Amino acid sequence: MKDLTPRKEDLNPIEIASRDEIQDLQLIRMKWSLSHAYENVPHYRKAFDEAGVHPDDLKSLADLSKFPFTVKQDLRANYPFGMFAVPREQVKRIHASSGTTGQPTVVGYTANDLDVWGEVVARSLRASGLRPGDILHNAYGYGLFTGGLGIHLGADALGLTTVPVSGGMTQRQVRLIEDFKPKGITVTPSYALSILDEYAARGIDPRESSLEVGIFGAEPWTNAMRLEIEQAFDMHAVDIYGLSEVMGPGVANECVETKDGLHIWEDHFYPEIIDPVTGEVLPDGEQGELVFTSLTKEAFPIIRYRTRDLTRLLPGTARSMRRMEKITGRSDDMIILRGVNVFPTQIEEQLMTVAGLAPHFQIELSTPGRMDVLTVMCEAAQSHTAEEARKAAAADLSHKVKASVGISIKVTVADPGAVERSQGKAVRIIDNRTKS
Ligand code: DLL
Repeated sequence: MKDLTPRKEDLNPIEIASRDEIQDLQLIRMKWSLSHAYENVPHYRKAFDEAGVHPDDLKSLADLSKFPFTVKQDLRANYPFGMFAVPREQVKRIHASSGTTGQPTVVGYTANDLDVWGEVVARSLRASGLRPGDILHNAYGYGLFTGGLGIHLGADALGLTTVPVSGGMTQRQVRLIEDFKPKGITVTPSYALSILDEYAARGIDPRESSLEVGIFGAEPWTNAMRLEIEQAFDMHAVDIYGLSEVMGPGVANECVETKDGLHIWEDHFYPEIIDPVTGEVLPDGEQGELVFTSLTKEAFPIIRYRTRDLTRLLPGTARSMRRMEKITGRSDDMIILRGVNVFPTQIEEQLMTVAGLAPHFQIELSTPGRMDVLTVMCEAAQSHTAEEARKAAAADLSHKVKASVGISIKVTVADPGAVERSQGKAVRIIDNRTKS
């Protein structure tokens, strides 16, 4: 793999500013953001008043802990435009969550917000190793989802040649990669695996492709998956994080030269880690729920938003801005099996080390008797389809999960291609448990 480290002189100076400079800027911006939300969004005025706090009470960054949290339900209750802090006419762009599990959440951006978004995504793409003039194959979905259009904004800001292919039509993805010879690809890690399948089906070696870096996010993925993808494509794989409520992709990104967690673009997004049960702020280094406060957003300021994503904060390395460790999972995706907490990423980590298995999987939860059962539905690698090989792979995986996570699971090793393929965010859990 090529060394893609960006030149220091190409970075935005704030990326390598001193911690004092960053914190001074954060405090000024946080005061503005709290006042902006309080003055212009009835929800925040009411929530702050009820908690007995006023934006003037913020004297230091630590004072943020006095302010109330915002949760997804608050956004739903103010559907569609109730959380906007500027007149609707100044909102240049709307995005929304899919709303498959309830009321969709709607977010908005002013022209200035779109510029900031472009800047943080451009920073992310540069940190990943892309430079002006490079070709980017953007396979995140375009539309209300922030992935496609968010990356596109940043690619324009950095000066890339963007191929806005969006998700789906996997045969065409491979054809365009082969014909246009992009240097980078932006895609969910699970859809990257579907693209790999298509390479195999066509008998083309993905290691011979032009790709030098993949920028993967929108769903949890492990370092074991990173290795799998890096080896399969002979390219770097870096992690990009974000969520619509805070901006979209580009809230944090890994640096290609270190790949040691994601630098949070702290001049625009202020992170905290809290104990998900008590709401207490935890010191850097401790695992908990990630909470964000926007520092510069105009249309949709967000104060202490509970992401439900679990991780920890670490000091800066390649940049001065703090890092977040790869996300372990969302608290919503935590499976409690016979008293033990399990995340799909823990299963993924083990599955990737079993030689006879392909990297695709889903987890089915069921209650055949009195106890809940977790079945990993995966598939045999092309080279390991014989009955004996499947049995050995299943035994190996359940043994590894028992040893590392401490739970007994069932494993079903199906034929290659049997597990449902993702075109965006993978569905990892199928919950067929009988609810008592
Ligand atoms: O997924 C934004 C995005 C698009 C990020 C493309 C990166 C690349 P939402 O649809 O609002 O926005 O979903 C946000 O996805 O709270 C996490 O649970 C999860 N997520 C996003 N990035 C990562 C990541 C986009 N790198 C939700 N690792 C977040 C783990 C991620 N989970």
